[in-house]
Amino acid sequence: MRVASGWVCPSCSLARSRRSFSSTTTTFKSPRDLPYEGTKRSNLTHDIRSRTTILSLIQPTGIPHLGNYLGALRRWKEFQDEKPSPAKNRRRNHMLLFGLADLHALNLKQDRELRRLNIRQTYASLLALGLDPRESNMFVQSQVPEHAELMWILSNVASTGYLGRMTQWKDKIGVGADASMENLDEKSREKLKLSLFSYPVLQAADILLYKADLVPVGEDQSQHVEFTRQLARAFNSTYARDLKAPVFTLPEAILSPAKRVMNLQQPEKKMSKSDPDVDGRILITDEPDEIRRKIKKAKTDSVVGPLTYDPETRPGVSNLIEILKHVTKSPQTCQEIAEENRNTTLGGLKALVAEEIVKELDGVKERYDALMAEGDQRIEFAMWYGRKVASSKAGNTMRQVRETVGLPGPETSKALKLAVGASPDELWEKLNTTKANT
Ligand code: TYM
Repeated sequence: MRVASGWVCPSCSLARSRRSFSSTTTTFKSPRDLPYEGTKRSNLTHDIRSRTTILSLIQPTGIPHLGNYLGALRRWKEFQDEKPSPAKNRRRNHMLLFGLADLHALNLKQDRELRRLNIRQTYASLLALGLDPRESNMFVQSQVPEHAELMWILSNVASTGYLGRMTQWKDKIGVGADASMENLDEKSREKLKLSLFSYPVLQAADILLYKADLVPVGEDQSQHVEFTRQLARAFNSTYARDLKAPVFTLPEAILSPAKRVMNLQQPEKKMSKSDPDVDGRILITDEPDEIRRKIKKAKTDSVVGPLTYDPETRPGVSNLIEILKHVTKSPQTCQEIAEENRNTTLGGLKALVAEEIVKELDGVKERYDALMAEGDQRIEFAMWYGRKVASSKAGNTMRQVRETVGLPGPETSKALKLAVGASPDELWEKLNTTKANT
């Protein structure tokens, strides 16, 4: 099959009827195709910034899998690898902020030691993939408390009606897509914790806190980016209508062509970290033989005849063809790949897919093991540096948000300035004296 370095046309993905695009979701062919300077923005956007902010997070619930990698992480790295424009004095066109959504991951009940380990493992995985803390700011969400503060403020414009229609909480508690708050049974209500229901509000805070322009994610997250846009509009019109300029810009989701990689054992479901069957996913740190074993075991079908691409009737085979296409960044459509390999057996296809994945992930496991073995210093340094950059941006936004909403800002009165270092008694005394003198 043909392999090219460019991104591919998404035609084969469009063949899947269940894969819908939202009107505000953009599938760019290549990071280079991004209209950085002229990124389509809403009319509400007011601040003319020379740099585009690109932000995305991952839940630290274990080692990332091939779906995370093809749907998001490889994209993050490509943004990082983009060469700075010479016309801009070698200054990068965009600011990169990538985070570990550990507050989101609190939904998953786990032992505190395991949670800490998962955070470290996920951070090490990002480094092992080549994300470089000097180029990409990689922070941990819980270390920037402004996320939770902004979430609370945004909760005041978040409609429970909209949240009730979102799919994630329904998936997580195992009720159908047509479930609603009204028709939930008692057991499901008990399972549905407030943090799961309001999860998209925290995600919106993650994005708006940094005034992100572009959010590279897999398809499952595009609904959350759409919700974020709705919250940004609601905040602007509720609190900033009288201001010259709105506070929040409207972010756009960027979907990579591999926007929904499917589970190897149940190809009608997406590949996920939480599935109990580990053979359904390839981890980015899997050894070559483990990758070969999992792909060999992948569920396909017993259709006789040539290899064909048809996600509806041959989901397992079609998933493998898609993985092959995306791993190799082939410019061919999935139909063309199937046609080109029409006489290949399913065993032959599996062997081809496995070898391409092994090639793509070459070196990740070694770098990951080395990072995990060397102790905490490098990871802690990278986290600290990421937090520093993220906190500075987050602090600026929150000052503006507090002022816009009418919450008290830093104390500025003369008396308080006089009182620096004074005890409460001395301060009270000073205030009385000031009052008597006026
Ligand atoms: P998470 O941790 O589930 O996944 C991380 C990224 O991987 C993508 N992804 C996939 N892409 C293709 N095929 C798959 N099978 C697949 N599985 C996962 C996800 O779309 C995501 O881009 N809520 C988010 C984390 C988050 C976030 C944010 C993302 C929190 N705040 C702000 C962007 C912006 C999540 O649970 O991702």
